[in-house]
Amino acid sequence: MSSSILMNSLNHSAYPGLTLTLADLEQASWQQLASVFDSTNQASVTGFKTMVLASRTNTGADARTVVLRKVDGDRKYVWFHTDVRAAKVMELEAFPDATLLFWDNTLRVQLRLTVETHLHSTDYIADEHWKELAVSSRKMYLSEYEPGSHQPNSYPGFPTHLGAELPTKEESESGRKNFAVIECRVLAMDYLQLSRDGQVRAMFQYEPDCKMAWLAP
Ligand SMILES: Cc1cc2nc3c(=O)[nH]c(=O)nc-3n(C[C@H](O)[C@H](O)[C@H](O)COP(=O)(O)O)c2cc1C
Repeated sequence: MSSSILMNSLNHSAYPGLTLTLADLEQASWQQLASVFDSTNQASVTGFKTMVLASRTNTGADARTVVLRKVDGDRKYVWFHTDVRAAKVMELEAFPDATLLFWDNTLRVQLRLTVETHLHSTDYIADEHWKELAVSSRKMYLSEYEPGSHQPNSYPGFPTHLGAELPTKEESESGRKNFAVIECRVLAMDYLQLSRDGQVRAMFQYEPDCKMAWLAP
C-alpha cells in the first residue's frame, strides 16, 4: 500500500482496524514518526515531535520529555539529544532498557516503544548530530552547570550574558563537550489508536524475533 493511501486510511477510515493489515499499520506508524522531519508536511503529526522517556533508576523509575531528533524506520532506530552531565545519562548507562512514549492528540495515536539505549558523546555519531544542530539548540549546551544542580538563583541554562541573544556558531562550539546523542534500538512497539468508532491496538516485536499481533485495547 502506498504511504499516502496508508496515512489517509489511518486518518480518515471509520474503523481502520477493519481495512488495514498488521504490516500496513506497522509501516504507517514508522511513517508517522518520520513525518515529523518532513518539512512539506502540513498535517497534524506534530504530536510525535516530543516523547516521554521513561527509565529505571537505583531507587525506582524516572520520566521526562525529550525531542525526537532522528528516525530510521527500516532499521528500527530513533535518536534524541541530551546534556552528557544530565541524570538520565547516568541512569541509562546503568539501566540501558527504557520506554519511549509518544502521543498525537490529533491522530489520537499512542506509540509505546521498548528500546535499548546507547550513549554517543565523543564519537563520530555525536559529531555528526552536533554539526547539524542549529545554534539556537546548541545554546542549551553552553550551561556552566550540571543539569539539576542546586543554584543560588534561578539560572536560564546558558551563560546569563547571552540573554535572548544567540551565540555565534564559533561560541556555540564550546557546548560540544556537553552534548550527547542517545541512540535507541527499538525492540518492540505497542500501537494504540483511540476512536469512538472502535479502538485499534497492536504489538510489533523486533527483538529477539519478529512478531506482530492485534491486541484487545
Ligand atoms: C518540550 C520539552 C522538550 C525537551 N527536550 C529535551 C531533550 O530533547 N533533551 C533533554 O535532555 N531534555 C529535554 N527536555 C528537558 C527534560 O524534560 C528534563 O527536564 C531534563 O533533561 C532533565 O532530565 P533528567 O534530570 O532526567 O536528566 C525537554 C523538556 C520539554 C518540556
